Amino acid sequence: MKKYNREVGSRFHINMEGALTARDRVGVQDFVLLDSYTSEISFLDNLRKRFRENLIYTYIGTLLVSVNPYKELDIYTHKKKELYQGVNFFELPPHIYAIADNAYRVMCTEYTNHFILISGESGAGKTEASKKILEFYAKTCQTTEQLQVVRDRLLLSNPVLEAFGNAKTLRNDNSSRFGKYMDIQFSYTGAPVGGHILSYLLEKSRVAHQNHGERNFHIFYQLLEGGEEELLRWLGLDRNPLQYHYLIQGECAKVSSINDKSGWKTVRKALSVIDFTDNDIDDLLGVIASVLHLGNIQFNPDSQGHANITVDKEIRWISKLLGVHVLVLQEGLTHKKIEAKADEVLSPLSVEQAFCARDALAKAIYGRTFTWLVNKINESLANQFCINYCNEKLQQLLIELTLKSEQEEYEAEGIQWEPIQYFNNKIICDLVEQKYKGIISILDEECLRPGEATDLTFLDRLEEKVGAHPHFLTHKLADQKTRKTMCRGDFRLLHYAGEVTYNVVGFLDKNNDLLYRNLKEVMCDSTNFIVKNCFTSNELDTKKRPETVATQFRYSLMGLIDILMSKVPSYVRCIKPNDAKQPGRFDDMLVRHQVKYLGLMEHLRVRRAGFAYRRKFDAFLKRYKLLCPDTWPNWHGPASEGVERLVKYIGYKQEEYKMGRTKIFIRFPKTLFATEDAYQASKNALVARLQAKYRGKIQRGEFQKQKKAAIKIETCWRGIQARQDAGKRSWAVKIIKKFIKGFMLRNQPACPENKDFLAFARSNYLMNLRKNLPQTVLDKKTWLKPPTYLQTTSELLQKLHKRTLVQKYCRGISAQHKLQMQQKVVASTLFKGKKEGYQQSVTKPFSDSRLREQDINPKAFQLIRHERLRYGVPVIKYNRNGFKPRPRQLLLMQTKAYIVEEDKIKQKIEYATLKGVSVSNLSDGVFVIHVPCENNNQKGDVILQCDYVFETVTKLCTIASKQNSFKIVQGSLKFTIQPGKEGIVDFTSGHESQVFKGKNGHLMVMTPRVKSR
Ligand SMILES: Nc1ncnc2c1ncn2[C@@H]1O[C@H](COP(=O)(O)OP(=O)(O)OP(=O)(O)O)[C@@H](O)[C@H]1O
Ligand SMILES: [Mg+2]
Repeated sequence: MKKYNREVGSRFHINMEGALTARDRVGVQDFVLLDSYTSEISFLDNLRKRFRENLIYTYIGTLLVSVNPYKELDIYTHKKKELYQGVNFFELPPHIYAIADNAYRVMCTEYTNHFILISGESGAGKTEASKKILEFYAKTCQTTEQLQVVRDRLLLSNPVLEAFGNAKTLRNDNSSRFGKYMDIQFSYTGAPVGGHILSYLLEKSRVAHQNHGERNFHIFYQLLEGGEEELLRWLGLDRNPLQYHYLIQGECAKVSSINDKSGWKTVRKALSVIDFTDNDIDDLLGVIASVLHLGNIQFNPDSQGHANITVDKEIRWISKLLGVHVLVLQEGLTHKKIEAKADEVLSPLSVEQAFCARDALAKAIYGRTFTWLVNKINESLANQFCINYCNEKLQQLLIELTLKSEQEEYEAEGIQWEPIQYFNNKIICDLVEQKYKGIISILDEECLRPGEATDLTFLDRLEEKVGAHPHFLTHKLADQKTRKTMCRGDFRLLHYAGEVTYNVVGFLDKNNDLLYRNLKEVMCDSTNFIVKNCFTSNELDTKKRPETVATQFRYSLMGLIDILMSKVPSYVRCIKPNDAKQPGRFDDMLVRHQVKYLGLMEHLRVRRAGFAYRRKFDAFLKRYKLLCPDTWPNWHGPASEGVERLVKYIGYKQEEYKMGRTKIFIRFPKTLFATEDAYQASKNALVARLQAKYRGKIQRGEFQKQKKAAIKIETCWRGIQARQDAGKRSWAVKIIKKFIKGFMLRNQPACPENKDFLAFARSNYLMNLRKNLPQTVLDKKTWLKPPTYLQTTSELLQKLHKRTLVQKYCRGISAQHKLQMQQKVVASTLFKGKKEGYQQSVTKPFSDSRLREQDINPKAFQLIRHERLRYGVPVIKYNRNGFKPRPRQLLLMQTKAYIVEEDKIKQKIEYATLKGVSVSNLSDGVFVIHVPCENNNQKGDVILQCDYVFETVTKLCTIASKQNSFKIVQGSLKFTIQPGKEGIVDFTSGHESQVFKGKNGHLMVMTPRVKSR
């Protein structure tokens, strides 16, 4: 026990701490942590809150409360099994696997025996819970191939037991109609090596009678639905269940929610796996069939009112299947053996008695076969009274064990025990089971009492003997008000979970074993192996009266309690959330009733009576040490001192905790919650700090690495660059050297050394030349000076370019302009460098004519019009003798020139005869036309002055083709006045233009000097 306590203690805390983290989300995982632990309302609230979230499991310390979800939940996966297996499930939420694993682990480490008690009302999920536990062990316990056989048998015994022991009831389609105690034996290494099943309280009455809406045991329907034709024929059965009296009383032989055919397959398969031989199976089904046949046997009264079997069809089938003689069986069913002194007398039964005998036989052989099936017999008759009594006993056991373990822990820790106020149901147990004074004893006494004992005399006797008991009440003893709620035959017990009213009708019958001795004898002779096994002749040899049902039950329960007392308990309390088998529905009234009847509040109170939380010093310190600077990060002194220092630092008050020898005890959950909250907060801060430190370190490392890498890359890159630069430099040096050499040898004939330079210089020169070409023909200065060796090229190019420019220019000029230019060329050959003022005249274009036709007098024009006018200009004519200036028009025609004065032609000069033309070298506008003077027709040379002397003289020389006869004189000029007479013109330069007759008789022409450019 001691060892157990220690473990339970630590389990308790582990779950608590798991609960601490989840409490806000879905209530508390452990009711011990409920602040108002005495309030049924907050208990229900917590249960409901969790149920809504599909959290069907909640702890009360080590006790597991389970609410039937009525739907498949995803919490029984292989992964979940692994999760809960053997680990220190510090923060794992409550689970049936945790209970299973804990029991297994403690067993392995402490070599103790354990039991898990699963209780709850019908349909609450007990059978399912037990299956989950088995599955957990099957999956998680170590196993070998040989052990696998054991495991399979343990698992497969379930469907067989359920087929024979479960039935549809109003409350549960698969209600277990027997109590079950399953033992699994483990080797010292923890491997399952064997199993053992005990059954209690099979509800045999169901064989012969079912309430409305309920069925007989599954196996009957399964056999009829699934059995092969041949098998049914061999058993003499009809496939239709409605043919059988024992199957139709509930009027629901077929239900859609139950699949009997697949049930049959499962059972049939399981039977062969769990080592049933074909003979065993034949015998077993023989019994099942016999029960059905028995139910159809009818009795009719003979003339004396004795029971008589008229149709012997069923009797024959039974006789065949059980291997008993027809007549013996027939006699057995209609007679009763009475022992009078040494004699045995057969007394016939009434019809009613015969029916009872038949039903009793059916129940007996089914019940015993069932017991045979589960391999141990603990026969009894299941009724509510016994079940409640059983619960009462188990509750007492629970309270005792819990209290005891609490007390022992306090003692071990040296903490003063404070008495806990709780309801001890020993008083009720005593009321039921006490020798001589208890209800069972009174019932037995009444059954054995000679004389007319009835259910009502039993009630009288109860009133007489226990009427004063505070937990007992009958109709007669009740006050006016209560009486209204009871019938005459009722008695009421105040069970710890509430009042339950029982009716005495049938109590005596149920308590008596109605199977007459002679029927037992018949069964003893059966050749059916099972029946023979169940009815031994030893039973017949003892003359002692068989124990009554209630007493048998009391004994078997005592046996069970003995077994349990020697083991370490774990508890699972199953709760049914609604009566409709519906998922998601939480019926407050129904659950509240169960919480009461399962004693959960009681249990919680016991758990919470002292301290809500306890924890080993070192574990407590380990979790919360970060809350106090003295204990963080490590406490080196004794753990207890560390804890003391810690709780003082965080401000625990004297009444909030106690220090044990190895553990700290904390009285209120709220103290713990506050500590836990502080822990969570500090943990986060601490984690953040650690994280930051760690991240910093990582980052620094990373940075250093990156820096190193960067430097390496940089070095490499610089190396590459330097190498590239060096390469470039050496290349450049080579090029420059070559260039210089080329330059030095540039004037040498082409050779490899200067080839590149020359090519470069050439291209360079050409490129530059291209950009700097002269733009006009006249631009003669612009020309890039070539290197010596390109001199010829340059000249050729210059010529070429010039020609191109000239071409371009020529192509651009008009015919008129061309003519003009030609004339200008003539002018140039005539005057250039010889006469002042020429330079200035070059830019002034020549006009076609200075006179138009209309400028000429029409009369004069009339006279000359037969010839084309090629040029006309106004002039001043100086008289040859007096040198008088006269305005005249000079008209140059095709072949002759005219000097015209108004309408008179003053002089006609044939070009052919023209001797020449003279001008001075100065800038005067005077020119002299020399004409022959041989005949008098000619008037002598003509002295003219005109503003356009260059133009006029050029035109004249050209038209008359007299370029060669043109002269430029310096100083003076001779001219012919008349044949044989000459005049002289003197040309001087002066300040102003003046023409006059000099004193020497010369014509003086004075002109200002023109600055030559
Ligand atoms: N954990 C569970 N998950 C899903 N369904 C469940 C669970 N527990 C019970 N049930 C459902 O409830 C039904 C009744 O459960 P079960 O047969 O275990 O009840 P019981 O307590 O053994 O009742 P009885 O006392 O009548 O034998 C099951 O058939 C199943 O449908
Ligand atoms: Mg069950």
